[in-house]
Amino acid sequence: MSEVLLEVENLRKYFPIRRGLFRRSAGSVRAVDGVSLQVHSGETLGVVGESGCGKSTMGRSILRLIEPTSGKVWFQGQDILKLTKPQMRDLRREMQIVFQDPYASLNPRYTIFQTLSEPMEIHNLYTSGERRQRVHSMLERVGLDPSYASRFPHEFSGGQRQRVGIARALMLHPKLMILDEPVAALDVSVQSQVINLLEDLQEEFNLTYIFVAHNLSVVKHISDRILVMYLGRMAELASPQDLFHEPLHPYTQALFSAVPVPNPRAKRERIILKGDLPSPASPPSGCVFHTRCPIAQELCQQQVPEWREVRSKHYAACHLIV
Ligand SMILES: Nc1ncnc2c1ncn2[C@@H]1O[C@H](COP(=O)(O)OP(=O)(O)OP(=O)(O)O)[C@@H](O)[C@H]1O
Ligand code: SF4
Ligand SMILES: [Mg+2]
Repeated sequence: MSEVLLEVENLRKYFPIRRGLFRRSAGSVRAVDGVSLQVHSGETLGVVGESGCGKSTMGRSILRLIEPTSGKVWFQGQDILKLTKPQMRDLRREMQIVFQDPYASLNPRYTIFQTLSEPMEIHNLYTSGERRQRVHSMLERVGLDPSYASRFPHEFSGGQRQRVGIARALMLHPKLMILDEPVAALDVSVQSQVINLLEDLQEEFNLTYIFVAHNLSVVKHISDRILVMYLGRMAELASPQDLFHEPLHPYTQALFSAVPVPNPRAKRERIILKGDLPSPASPPSGCVFHTRCPIAQELCQQQVPEWREVRSKHYAACHLIV
């Protein structure tokens, strides 16, 4: 397997809850609660889980767009939580993020040229002629006409705006891209075009992706491995083939039971989880999934299940997987 590009160890992000006149601390939201993983150069790690399970917070904490509460993040062997602000700014050339809503992430007062040349200005790279040339060739590369450089974001469709967002992330040739639901806000007809573009770019630029998504079919299609998260924790991690063929964690089984199967005769029974998603401000004891797990036992309330390799290269945290 290729080299490890990113390694995350026991990453936590707790948001403090402050209440009252004196903004006294009243506990914390455990958005990410002990995530450890490795991402290999050139691979796509898909990340799935219900809304609020900490997918975006994990992505932002890895890039230090928000400061993690604890844990370690190594990028190309470098402990990035120890870097100073200027060192971190330099490293950001290598690690980029693309957000779900391209409209919110593009400055409406900037032309596309300004948006795309800004990263080169910040890092003081290239002459103005070279910048223009690079913007034009990147626009072409993401499927936009170079003459669009003088336009503003509102003049584009959603799909075109996301192409601009992707172009901006690519301007400095990063190694790692965190794609946080990059097609969720787009029309279904446009989604597959943008997914195809991301796949082509990955090959051309040897990019490594962390791909966060709600749409399980998209994640299955694009990922080399998939991480399932629940309430800030890792539930299961495996290749798409193994995960869809034999989901082992009861939460993954429920999540996947809602995915339509191509062959109607092979219809799976849909598992409806009881109760609501607990608040990450007061997660359940033991296994955080025990309040909704259809097969929970007494042990599950008391002991946190260990993260272990339950099949070859197939990991999960559940007491009852044999
Ligand atoms: N800045 C913040 N301050 C306080 N709580 C936050 C903050 N950002 C996120 N949270 C909380 O952290 C938890 C995880 O949120 P996060 O946005 O990471 O989830 P997500 O998996 O990306 O969800 P979605 O699928 O809806 O995008 C949620 O309970 C959320 O309310
Ligand atoms: S540890 Fe227990 S509660 Fe948690 S998923 Fe496994 S069976 Fe369910
Ligand atoms: Mg999110």
